[in-house]
Amino acid sequence: MTVPYDPNDREKVVAKLPSELRKELKVRAAEVDTDIQDAVTQGVEAWRKAKSVRPIVDTAGGTSFATYLPTGLYDKLRKVCKSRGISYNQGIAQSIRLWLDEHPSPRPKPQRVTGARRFIFGNQKGGVGKTSVSAGVAQALAETGHRTLLVDFDPQGHLTKQLGHPLIDIDAPSLAKHMLGEVKDGTLTDLLIPIKGGDFEDHLWLLPACKDAFLLDAKLATSRFVRIKETALEKALEPLEHDFDFIVVDCPPSLGYSMDTAIYYCRTREGEEDSTSGIVIPVLSEDSSADAYDMLEEQIEDLIEDIEVVIAQLGFVVNMYDSRKGYVATSSLEEWQKIGDPPVLAVVPELKDQREAVRMKEPLLAYAPYCEQAEAMRAIARRISG
Ligand SMILES: Nc1ncnc2c1ncn2[C@@H]1O[C@H](COP(=O)(O)OP(=O)(O)O)[C@@H](O)[C@H]1O
Ligand SMILES: [Mg+2]
Repeated sequence: MTVPYDPNDREKVVAKLPSELRKELKVRAAEVDTDIQDAVTQGVEAWRKAKSVRPIVDTAGGTSFATYLPTGLYDKLRKVCKSRGISYNQGIAQSIRLWLDEHPSPRPKPQRVTGARRFIFGNQKGGVGKTSVSAGVAQALAETGHRTLLVDFDPQGHLTKQLGHPLIDIDAPSLAKHMLGEVKDGTLTDLLIPIKGGDFEDHLWLLPACKDAFLLDAKLATSRFVRIKETALEKALEPLEHDFDFIVVDCPPSLGYSMDTAIYYCRTREGEEDSTSGIVIPVLSEDSSADAYDMLEEQIEDLIEDIEVVIAQLGFVVNMYDSRKGYVATSSLEEWQKIGDPPVLAVVPELKDQREAVRMKEPLLAYAPYCEQAEAMRAIARRISG
């Protein structure tokens, strides 16, 4: 249900809520495809009108939660709080609890047949947002309580560095060495690093990059194993799949064998529903992005033909959009939208928060959890995981 309020006519409201309640709200809002601010608005409206006194919600140990309510609604809530003799904070907490009670989780979805759901973020063009969008979407998925693995599959290691971690030492076990069968002892699990901070804490892990991945294309090309070019990434990551709900891969800016193996990894497996896994393509609103997409699309088509796989293109993310750039930006956005299938999942404006988060080496959803870009990441996560 959408709420009949002008989105511009809202005021910021901050409450202290326990993290469990916040998480429950995020998960449920995602499940029933509602914005968090609309869910809270609905909760407050229902709570104001509730005839019976609602049970007290334990808000001990609460931390800051900010949302936007239609202007004037918070005043009304405060009046009711006074008449019921409770704090404003308690009023918000009860409103959220009421909304959760009135919006139960939909029936469990059919169990997936195999492994984790796999999303790769690819485009051979650099600087379009593969790293930032894959990281943001992985944080958003983890925030809703899903165990999520973020794989830095770009030998440049931007993702690893941006999250404040060192690249794996060139001689140490790494993803590429596991893919090539060059590791004697240990498993990939040994390489995972938990990403801390934000509401995703305890649900997000990073598989860091290693510069040895620069050699991966050449080594895959000359491997004597049949089909390893396509299957290497899957073979390496499959043992981790039972530990995760989602595996998100930040791809390198290339169209080599590494990309083939990543595309293969996100194919629709036998028995898996369509679009359970797939590729998301971050693009810019400019002409050269369209040419880049043509080449990527050709590579996907070749793979589909060569080895008869189904690859779901989940959609484009038109990133760093700035309509002030004029006709080239606006018309090329229209071109992306005109494609229709795959759809445009989101248009993300050029925003300062992303660059600031990178500078601070913090995950975006921990650095600025309520910024417009963080909300865009949650919207993309909802669309591709729904
Ligand atoms: N929406 C955005 N607004 C502002 N800066 C952005 C945005 N998305 C990405 N950036 C910045 O642009 C640069 C390139 O993005 P990145 O995600 O590294 O692209 P890619 O992985 O495709 O090379 C980075 O410095 C990143 O922080
Ligand atoms: Mg990158």
